[in-house]
Amino acid sequence: MQIPFHKTHTTDEEIEVATDAIKSGWLTMGPKVLEFENKFKEYIKVPEAVAVNSATAALHLALKAIGLQRDDEVIVPTNTFVATAEVITYFDAIPVLCDIEYDTHNIDVSKIESFITNKTKAIIPVHFAGQPCDMDEIYDIAQKYNLKVIEDAAHAIPSSYKGTKIGALKNSDITCFSFYATKTLSTGEGGMATTFNSDYSKNIKVNRLHGISKDAWDRYATKVAWYYDIIDNGNKYNTTDINASIGLVQLKKQDKLRDKRVYIAKKYIEAFKNNKNIILPFVKDDRTTSWHLFVIKIKDRDETIEKLKELDIGTSVHFIPIHKHTYYKNTYGYKNEEYSIANKVFNESLSLPIYPDMNDIEIDYVIKKVKEVLEENKNAIK
Ligand SMILES: Cc1ncc(COP(=O)(O)O)c(C=O)c1O
Repeated sequence: MQIPFHKTHTTDEEIEVATDAIKSGWLTMGPKVLEFENKFKEYIKVPEAVAVNSATAALHLALKAIGLQRDDEVIVPTNTFVATAEVITYFDAIPVLCDIEYDTHNIDVSKIESFITNKTKAIIPVHFAGQPCDMDEIYDIAQKYNLKVIEDAAHAIPSSYKGTKIGALKNSDITCFSFYATKTLSTGEGGMATTFNSDYSKNIKVNRLHGISKDAWDRYATKVAWYYDIIDNGNKYNTTDINASIGLVQLKKQDKLRDKRVYIAKKYIEAFKNNKNIILPFVKDDRTTSWHLFVIKIKDRDETIEKLKELDIGTSVHFIPIHKHTYYKNTYGYKNEEYSIANKVFNESLSLPIYPDMNDIEIDYVIKKVKEVLEENKNAIK
């Protein structure tokens, strides 16, 4: 049996709608993008949603919308994908890395204030694996120091915090989602920015397409199709009707797909809960996770990955902390010892397969083999 770390859930319906989009002759951003944005707004329950071609693009445009400037500082957790920090560098601004909590792997809000200076402009909490961060505590800090909050919700469709879906938290400035191939809602590549602030959404709409005053759709829909004006120094970050058509299909089944991941997570939790070799993911009780990832902590992580690979079970590690990457270490001089929790989490973390198309035989195989391999190691973690 071969169990890859991830398989994207797609059916004939995605193929049909992508084909329809191609046949319509509208290959770039057009009516389907608009429809996708509208349906996304309804699903999340937020007034503004702007589709782009990645979460990286959404994060970049979010920072532009809040007016990030050279030498400004933005606080991000070190346990994230590079995109969260990279977008800050586009402005010659500084990513300031904060350590994380051992149990949730999310930013440790008790440490944020120690990183705030008079140059701090924003915080980007990352909802790791789909579990929302301590948003109320983050808003308190943001209010005290007059900081913007941009959520990196690349993992968080659908997740909720105190009963509200991520993407619809009113105290955040902008929330950024990813529709990358491995994500819970996938269009191959894609992203979305949501906000309650129409000035931000207008700014992001203009800058996703070169700073042109109107979207291509508006232009082609008007009689004077040739005229445009550049009103900002924008980017080429628009998405396409092909991607949006796939997104509409994927959006429709989000709750069902999450139910399937919840089912797998429950099976893993039940199977491993008394296992001395495994620390299970911990979800705080006032929030729900999308279960984009299922990350356990174990001893002898590297050896375990290799043994599982020999058994045809794909696993992964999320994430190599930003402060360990050569470019970031050399450019910003992060001190390894400031991130003791992230370092420990990194050494112990193992992401198991969790995707809707896994069947019971595959789930049970993973459980059996993980138990066996860890038993061989004879190296308890708790
Ligand atoms: C936490 C996080 N932020 C941002 C991104 C970037 O997403 P995208 O590939 O859509 O740009 C990713 C992608 O893996 C991610 O995991």
